[in-house]
Amino acid sequence: MEQTKTAPKREGWGSKLGVILAVAGSAVGLGNFLRFPSQAALNGGGAFMIPYFISLLILGIPLMWVEWTIGRYGGGFGHGSAPGIFHTMWKKNRFIKYFGVLGIFAPIVILSYYTYIESWLLGYAWFSVSGKLSQVAATEQGMRAFLTGYQGLLPTDHFSGLGYAYLFFLITFALNAWVIYRGLKGGIEKLCNWAMPTLVICGIILTVRVLTIGTPHPETPDNTILNGLGYLWNPDFKALTNAKVWLAAAGQIFFTLSIGFGVIMTYASYLNKREDVALSGLTASATNEFVEVILGGSIVIPAAFAFFGSARIVEIAQSGSFNIGFVTMPMIFNQIPAGMCFASIWYGLLFLAGITSSVSMAIPAIAFLEDEFNISRKKAALITIAIVFFLCQPAILFLGRGVMDELDFWGGTFCLILAGAIEAILFSWVFGMDKAWEEMHHGAEMSVPSVFKFILRYITPVYLLAILGFWLYQEGWPVILMQGVSVENRPFILWTRIGLLLFFGLLSYLVWHAWKKRSTVTDP
Ligand code: ALA
Repeated sequence: MEQTKTAPKREGWGSKLGVILAVAGSAVGLGNFLRFPSQAALNGGGAFMIPYFISLLILGIPLMWVEWTIGRYGGGFGHGSAPGIFHTMWKKNRFIKYFGVLGIFAPIVILSYYTYIESWLLGYAWFSVSGKLSQVAATEQGMRAFLTGYQGLLPTDHFSGLGYAYLFFLITFALNAWVIYRGLKGGIEKLCNWAMPTLVICGIILTVRVLTIGTPHPETPDNTILNGLGYLWNPDFKALTNAKVWLAAAGQIFFTLSIGFGVIMTYASYLNKREDVALSGLTASATNEFVEVILGGSIVIPAAFAFFGSARIVEIAQSGSFNIGFVTMPMIFNQIPAGMCFASIWYGLLFLAGITSSVSMAIPAIAFLEDEFNISRKKAALITIAIVFFLCQPAILFLGRGVMDELDFWGGTFCLILAGAIEAILFSWVFGMDKAWEEMHHGAEMSVPSVFKFILRYITPVYLLAILGFWLYQEGWPVILMQGVSVENRPFILWTRIGLLLFFGLLSYLVWHAWKKRSTVTDP
C-alpha cells in the first residue's frame, strides 16, 4: 500500500496517550453525566442496563474499532473526513462519498445545540460560586423557574430575558473557538491532557460524597443511597421484551461513545500505520464506560433516589432530559453541608466534560476543508467556527419551540445510527473482512477476538438496520408529518428541517465539487 507516498503531510498527535485522551475526551461528555441517568430512569433503571451492556458489546466497541481503523486507513490517503474515507474504501462506487456527508453533518448539527447546553453549565458553576443558586434551590418550583428564566423562556425575579444565557454562551463559544483554532496538538490534545484527569478526580470526589450520604430523610427509610444503587443495578428481566428500552440503550451507546459522529475517524486519520488502533480504541471505550457507569451512575441516580424516591426520578426525567442535572442536583446539593462547593465541582466537571466533546465535533468539517479543498488549517478552522456560530442561533432563540429537540433527534440519534450501519457494512462487506481485519491489526498491541468478525459482519449491521426499520415502521410517518408537534411550533420545526436539508445539500455539493476538481488532477 502506497499510503505514506501518496499522502500529503498532515497534522499529527503529540503522543499516544494524547490521542487516547482526546478520543476519550470526545466520548466523555454531557451524555455520561446527564443523558445516561435520564435514560436509565426513563427506561426502568435495572431494566436498562442489560440492553445497554449488550449494545456496548455488539455496537459500541466493534464500531469504535471500525472508526479507528478506517480513519487511519483514509488518513493514509490524505482523507480525514468521512466522504474521503468512505471513498478510499469503495473507490468504484461514485455515491458512497455522499453517505460520508453524514460524518460532517451530524457533528456540526450536534455542536449547534451542545455548545449552548455546555454554556448553561458554565452559568450554573458561576451561580453556585456566587451564591445565587443557593437562594433558589430550596424548592423544585424555585429551581424550575430559575432554569426557565435563565433560558429566557419566562421572565422571572432573577432574569428578564436571555442576557445571562447569551453571555455565558458567548464565553463558552469563544473558549471552544480558541481551542479549535489552536489545532489538534496545540489545542485539543493539550486541553484533554489536563481536563480528563481533572474531571475524573472531580467525579471521584462527588461519587464518594454521594455514596456517603446514607439516608437523608429518616421519615422515608427506604430512600437510601444503597437502594438507589439497587434501582440501577438490580436487573429487571421483564422489561427486556420492550423494544423501546433496546432502542434507547443503543442510542445512548452511540451518543456516549461519539460513534457515528465522524469524530473518531478524523482523529484516527492523523495516526500513521504503525500506530496501534485496537488497544487504543478499547482503552478509549473503557475510559468512557468507567466515567459513565461507575461515576455517572453513582452520582445522579442514587442521590436523586435517596432524596426524592424512584417515582419522582422518573417524573423529573420525563419533564426534560437535562432537568435532572439542572433542577434536581442543585436541590440535593442545597441539603448537604458545603453543598454549593460540591455544586460548583459538579458544574465545573460537567463543563470540562462538555468542552472536551464539543471541540471534537468541529474537527471533521475542518479536516474536510483542509484535505479536500487545500485550505490552510487555520483558515478552515475560522470558516467552520463562523458557520457553527451562525448555526447555534436557532437552538438558542427558539429553545421553547422544540428546535433543540429536533436537532438532537436528527443529528444526535437518527444520523448516528444510519452512519453506524453504513460503516459496519462498508467495513465487513465492501472492504472485506479479511482485509479489514489485517488493517485493524497493523501495529496493534492486542489481538481483537475473532468473534467480533462475526459480530461486525452479521449482528451489528442487522441490529442497526432493524432499529432503523422498526423506527420507520412505528414512528416514521407520525414524526415526518409532525403529528406530535403543537400547531404553533410547527413552522419552527418545519424551518429547522428545511435548514437541515439545505445544510446537508450544501455539504453534498461541496463533496461533488471537491471530487470534480480532483478528477481533473489525479484521483487518489
Ligand atoms: N459523546 C459525547 C457525550 O457523551 C457527545 O456527551
